[in-house]
Amino acid sequence: MSLLEVKDLHVTYGSGTRAVPAVRGVDLSLAAGQKLGVAGESGCGKSTLALALLRLLPASAKPTGEILLDGENVLTMKWGRLRAVRWAGASIVFQGAMHSLNAVHRVGDQIAEPILLHRRTMTPAEAKRRVGELLQHVGLPVTRADGYPHELSGGQRQRVMIAMALACDPQLIVADEPTTALDVMIQAQILRLIEQLVAEQHISLLMISHDLGVLADTCDRLAVMYAGRVVEEGPARAVYSRAEHPYGRALSAAFPRIGDPASRRAPRGLPGDPPDPSALPSGCAFHPRCALALDSCSEQDQELVPAGEGRRAACVLVGAGPAGAGAGTEMQL
Ligand SMILES: Nc1ncnc2c1ncn2[C@@H]1O[C@H](COP(=O)(O)OP(=O)(O)OP(=O)(O)O)[C@@H](O)[C@H]1O
Ligand SMILES: [Mg+2]
Repeated sequence: MSLLEVKDLHVTYGSGTRAVPAVRGVDLSLAAGQKLGVAGESGCGKSTLALALLRLLPASAKPTGEILLDGENVLTMKWGRLRAVRWAGASIVFQGAMHSLNAVHRVGDQIAEPILLHRRTMTPAEAKRRVGELLQHVGLPVTRADGYPHELSGGQRQRVMIAMALACDPQLIVADEPTTALDVMIQAQILRLIEQLVAEQHISLLMISHDLGVLADTCDRLAVMYAGRVVEEGPARAVYSRAEHPYGRALSAAFPRIGDPASRRAPRGLPGDPPDPSALPSGCAFHPRCALALDSCSEQDQELVPAGEGRRAACVLVGAGPAGAGAGTEMQL
């Protein structure tokens, strides 16, 4: 059984004429110990998906569908059970650590808080020892426990967030753009740290990024989102090197491949903007930006269909022969 199974998840912010359908029918699954990357342009619903997984959405958001964590539906859990599941079942590392840490509390006390909440029999002295262990685990000196978030660099703050996420030995960590605000050297360090920790502790990882390359390096599987839907999913390296969906290919072409001699071409941008979720195009939401769109793409949306070994893609051209999305044609952008 999968550790995490998301079935037909929809999340809409607001209602009536102001309704924003941010996530539209997402199906995903993640096995124990597996690492799944979720990629897509700004506004495609990645953070909304992450927040839904831990039921942290604002009150204006209405989620429907199922989010099964170890077989239990997070969306319908009673509050007491949800409190027990957060941190210990699944924890989250947010986009931008500075905003997630409390500026007026010492770092050590913030890491100790979920520990004391979940391990009621633990004494404050034991929790302090555990905080020290966690700080060492993420490569920070134990003395940092007495400092405040503003005394730390961006990379150190993100390490603190990771220590907090690990504090109660979760089965799943959801990391929403954990390295976005960091410089490339620190970004690489933090990614390696996450990889090392989830491997050592056999934790499943759902990592969100707009950078397909980062995800392909870190994750086993990759899901590409567009306008609230997963449009492609499969083994990470395969999706990165030859996506089946024209959007996946365009996203992958938008990033430089440093050190890849097979790819000397300059990265290409994708023309046009991602659609406004409150005014989506008819049919396939990608069709206005797709150089391979057929007339029918503006009329009918495409479900995810099998697209090779362990892969699915939501494009009418999948398996359609030489001109098809799966035929390795370079989309002219
Ligand atoms: N609290 C909210 N109320 C209304 N709309 C929202 C709210 N939060 C997000 N949205 C809208 O939902 C859509 C998806 O937003 P989301 O933050 O999930 O995107 P994202 O993929 O994480 O983007 P980014 O890469 O910029 O972080 C966007 O159109 C956004 O404007
Ligand atoms: Mg986001």
